[in-house]
Amino acid sequence: MRLQSRNPVSTSAARPTSAAPGHVRAALVALFGGAALLAGLAAAGREPSFKGDVPYEPTPHAVVNAMIELADVRSGDVVYDLGCGDGRIVIAAVRRPGVTGVCVEIDPDLLRRSRANAARAGVAERIRFVEGDLFETPIADATVVTLYLWPHVNLRLRPRLLSELRPGTRVVSHSHDMGDWAPERRVVVSTGPKEAVLYRWTIPPR
Ligand SMILES: C[S@@+](CC[C@H](N)C(=O)[O-])C[C@H]1O[C@@H](n2cnc3c(N)ncnc32)[C@H](O)[C@@H]1O
Repeated sequence: MRLQSRNPVSTSAARPTSAAPGHVRAALVALFGGAALLAGLAAAGREPSFKGDVPYEPTPHAVVNAMIELADVRSGDVVYDLGCGDGRIVIAAVRRPGVTGVCVEIDPDLLRRSRANAARAGVAERIRFVEGDLFETPIADATVVTLYLWPHVNLRLRPRLLSELRPGTRVVSHSHDMGDWAPERRVVVSTGPKEAVLYRWTIPPR
């Protein structure tokens, strides 16, 4: 696995402005990205239906490790994965000493799978499992939030991250940025033939 730091777009944790072009660009990316994904599912003969705002697509394990590194997960952290799928990010995070996690997932089958995976890994007692909508789940006690959603979902979530999370909380997103809220770090992870882009922000002082 190769972890490259590319274009540190900003080293500050500046608050975003509400400039329209970033939103328009993100909306177009979301629209065409979503259409491509649904077309791909249809072509593969799979039902293009999912329970929440984004279909399930697991983060590769090497990328999970890079997200945890980028978030600088350490003792005392409470790591939330919003849309946790099979729980792999939170499970990997709580393997670090002194870390606890919260796995928020709208799909009950996936949440069951994440519970079973955590039990198999021997870390279930360090994770709280929440079956529900990430937009309605309280997140104020997080010190790290991880995301692998869609661009327009990140943008919808952004005001809540900025208003509910405590200053200093780290947010790491797989693949998608936050429009005109510049990340403090952007890294590219190479895993064989594929590359994943990760973004990190820190909640600024209020
Ligand atoms: C792309 S997958 C990422 C899974 C996991 N975070 C990972 O990186 O391996 C997105 C996940 O978000 C869940 N999801 C989508 N909309 C949601 C919502 N509104 N509330 C909670 N979970 C949601 C999906 O069911 C899916 O498991």
